[in-house]
Amino acid sequence: MAANGAGVAAHANGAGPQADNVGILAAEVYFPSTYVRQEDLERHDGVSSGKYTVGLGQQGLSFVGDREDAVSMALSVLRRLLERHNISPLEVGRLEVGTETSVDSSKSIKSYLMVMFEEAGNTDVEGVDCVQACYGGTAAVQNAVNWVESRSWDGRFAVVVMTDISLYPAGPARPTSGAGAVALLIGPDAPLVLERGLSTTHMAHAYDFYKPSGLYPAVRAALRERAGGAVVEHAAPAMDGPLSVYCYLSTLDLLYPRYAAKFEKRHGRPFPLGDAGRHATPPRPIYTFCPAPPVPRPANHALFPAPYNKLVQKAFARLMYHDMHGEVPEALAACGADLRDGSHPRPPMQMPRDLDKALVAAAFATYDRKVRPSTCVARQCGNMYTASIWSGIPQLIETTGAALEGRRILLYSYGSGISASMFSLLARAPHAPRFSLARLQATSDLAMRLARRVPKSPEEFEQAVQLAEQRYCAGNYKPELPALEELEPGTFYLAEVDARYRRIYARKPLAQ
Ligand code: ACO
Repeated sequence: MAANGAGVAAHANGAGPQADNVGILAAEVYFPSTYVRQEDLERHDGVSSGKYTVGLGQQGLSFVGDREDAVSMALSVLRRLLERHNISPLEVGRLEVGTETSVDSSKSIKSYLMVMFEEAGNTDVEGVDCVQACYGGTAAVQNAVNWVESRSWDGRFAVVVMTDISLYPAGPARPTSGAGAVALLIGPDAPLVLERGLSTTHMAHAYDFYKPSGLYPAVRAALRERAGGAVVEHAAPAMDGPLSVYCYLSTLDLLYPRYAAKFEKRHGRPFPLGDAGRHATPPRPIYTFCPAPPVPRPANHALFPAPYNKLVQKAFARLMYHDMHGEVPEALAACGADLRDGSHPRPPMQMPRDLDKALVAAAFATYDRKVRPSTCVARQCGNMYTASIWSGIPQLIETTGAALEGRRILLYSYGSGISASMFSLLARAPHAPRFSLARLQATSDLAMRLARRVPKSPEEFEQAVQLAEQRYCAGNYKPELPALEELEPGTFYLAEVDARYRRIYARKPLAQ
């Protein structure tokens, strides 16, 4: 190629092309066509009305039977990205997959995706799978951006695919299940540029969520024994739900001040997430003979991993809390807690319940503007693990388009275990119109696809889950659910697993 001409120069020593403004050129999301409404699940599970829809903030839960898996969803979203943005497989030099739902302990999902590139005569494609809970997709994006910015770059695009199925056993975690995939095209002269030098990371060891049972039958048997003989669902994680929430929020607490400190060091002023408060208007010199330096923008949007929407609301409220320095709203002060020093918030487990609720309420108007526009897929489809946070990008593009230009998007990416990063994207008008935000918005069909999905009853959901569990790690079968007619045209599906456990995929034809 030349990835797209603009944004590419030669390295000083002639080593190859050098890329500028590297980031996301295009983004697509895929979700299964079958889902169950959370209000129907509430009735079916016999919990109080509003527990899933208000308490967890979820509207729907996407699920697959045995006909779709993480590989088929990755194939579907990758083909969408290539077809809808007119990318030839010959233009791609790196392809990496973030997932925690692999179907094989050795063979990467990336290797299945190579079919599309082999057909076009391109097997010169770097990258494999990144596995680390919900963080694998972010690690893959970092690798892709680093490759394009490096001396190894050969001028072609990088593609990152995130694909996951989240499925919990019946009980309090089940309504936070979900499924979906995201594909990102990475290259120079991007409309969404990854800001260099501001990213901050936290990596540590914790057992808040892990999946030993899916891999080793002996561990599964041990877990079954520990559970008093109860069946341990094969694909389900071993997890401590409240601990995972604690780890998610306390890691957020750790990273936000680090990000803000880097921002302040670079831009010479504090990082404001909210619009109000003493940081909103940066100090400007009154008399100066030099042109004023460009005013760094605050974050106009914030994206979070979304196991369930209430956690996203809480996460955003906590960041607003960090921003409070002696400006505590009355509603919060009424909780009686010492809120003055927002830079040292107490651990989330110890956060008084009334304060927790008051924070969410106080932050809600800002949340509505800065976060809600990117949460629709996660609220309607549930947890997509690696794809969860990145599903906000195609939504922001669809809802905001060229109006995003000049805005900063703050991202908090968390994977259990623990790996997490906070970083930001700056939206801009690219030199070449091929990937302008206006063009991306004009071709987006996300809301229409969400509306076309087929709602299923909780009983049908359970039937599909049972079938998928029976088929987990099985060989020699032909998938049954959902019916082929229920898949969207152009969807890839699992056609067969043969007696040697080889998985054969097919594609439903595109509508004529
Ligand atoms: N109407 C309105 N709200 C209600 C109602 C009702 N009828 N009933 C309950 N609620 C509220 C509760 O007050 C609570 O609100 P709060 O969080 O503001 O206090 C909320 O609904 C949740 O109810 P709980 O009883 O506290 O929690 P539950 O026992 O249902 O479990 C949990 C929630 C722990 C998140 C569970 O769903 C889970 O384990 N999920 C999987 C783990 C997970 O997603 N972790 C997140 C990060 S790690 C990752 O992504 C894997």
